[in-house]
Amino acid sequence: VERVFSGVQPTGNLHLGNYLGAIVNFVKMQETHNCIYCVVDMHAITQGLDVWGGPAELARNTREVTAAFIASGIDPKKHIVFNQSQVSGHAELAWIFNCVARMGWLGRMTQFKEKAGKDRENASVGLFDYPVLMAADILLYRATHVPVGEDQKQHLELSRDIAQKFNNDFGDSIRSHGGNDGLFFPLPEPLITGPATRVMSLRDGTKKMSKSDASDNSRINLTDDADTIAQKIRKAKTDPEPLPSEEKGLEARPEADNLVGIFAALSGRPKASVLGEFGGGQFSSFKNALAELCVTKLAPIAGEMKRLVADPSHIETILNDGSDRARALAEETMNLSKDIVGFVRRR
Ligand code: TYM
Repeated sequence: VERVFSGVQPTGNLHLGNYLGAIVNFVKMQETHNCIYCVVDMHAITQGLDVWGGPAELARNTREVTAAFIASGIDPKKHIVFNQSQVSGHAELAWIFNCVARMGWLGRMTQFKEKAGKDRENASVGLFDYPVLMAADILLYRATHVPVGEDQKQHLELSRDIAQKFNNDFGDSIRSHGGNDGLFFPLPEPLITGPATRVMSLRDGTKKMSKSDASDNSRINLTDDADTIAQKIRKAKTDPEPLPSEEKGLEARPEADNLVGIFAALSGRPKASVLGEFGGGQFSSFKNALAELCVTKLAPIAGEMKRLVADPSHIETILNDGSDRARALAEETMNLSKDIVGFVRRR
């Protein structure tokens, strides 16, 4: 069975974009793959304290992301749920990959450019290195499939480049350790699927829905209550035209397109079918239906998350158990990788 790996940062404000772009697909993959889902706490500290909120927030958010996974339907017994910092292999493999990846590759990463902003001199080295740690996350388990939102596509391409360069650079050594150079690290494939791979801000259809947007009205948080969800949908920016009855009518109407995409994703229907029902009608009635759908789908998750985070020791048991199982898998890759590089190790 092929292996899936993906991660979510515990940086607070988990939102509908994270849910539809990533978590929903995490849940689906469980039927066909062995899955490893990671709360990437080491990635979370790559930006300023103002973004991740400090030690107490980080621990709280780590438990909250874990709760979101479980509440959404991820089974931590059949699959693996854990937090990154508990398995030292992530940092160890990232170091080896630091010496494989090139500065030029990382310099081209649009997410780094966006997050670092104009003051690049002041960005942390960790932020620059973020995609290398991400490659290590995936390849530590030699995972082949990685469900993510559209914004992670470039990072996945970098992971493939790192895997390929490692396989080439160490080809002879891989073969002398009984491996197949072309296959030691698989080239991981991004799975970017569904009608909501890039959920946009509710206030501006040209901006991604994001954890760090200053306006809480720009996103639907997984912890929002029913009234808040309904209000945010009602206030969501739209244009004055009624909804079109065909998909091509959504072109150049980013806000309308976004809301229809959200409806499609939450209802499991194609966008065309949503437009078939609501096309030509007033936005307000579509928004009412969308608000109702959001509440129906998200309120149970919010309720279950609340119940789960109220018992931190239960969540920590899940993370500890997941980490133990992840560590055992990671150790195999790490031992082989160290042999391949030529690091002398205790036997
Ligand atoms: P994070 O926490 O920023 O995002 C988690 C997941 O949510 C997706 N996402 C979105 N999808 C659709 N619309 C949006 N507006 C939206 N915003 C976020 C992201 O694409 C992501 O799938 N770098 C990863 C974390 C990570 C990782 C990994 C992922 C670390 N190591 C290894 C895969 C494999 C990230 O973006 O986290």
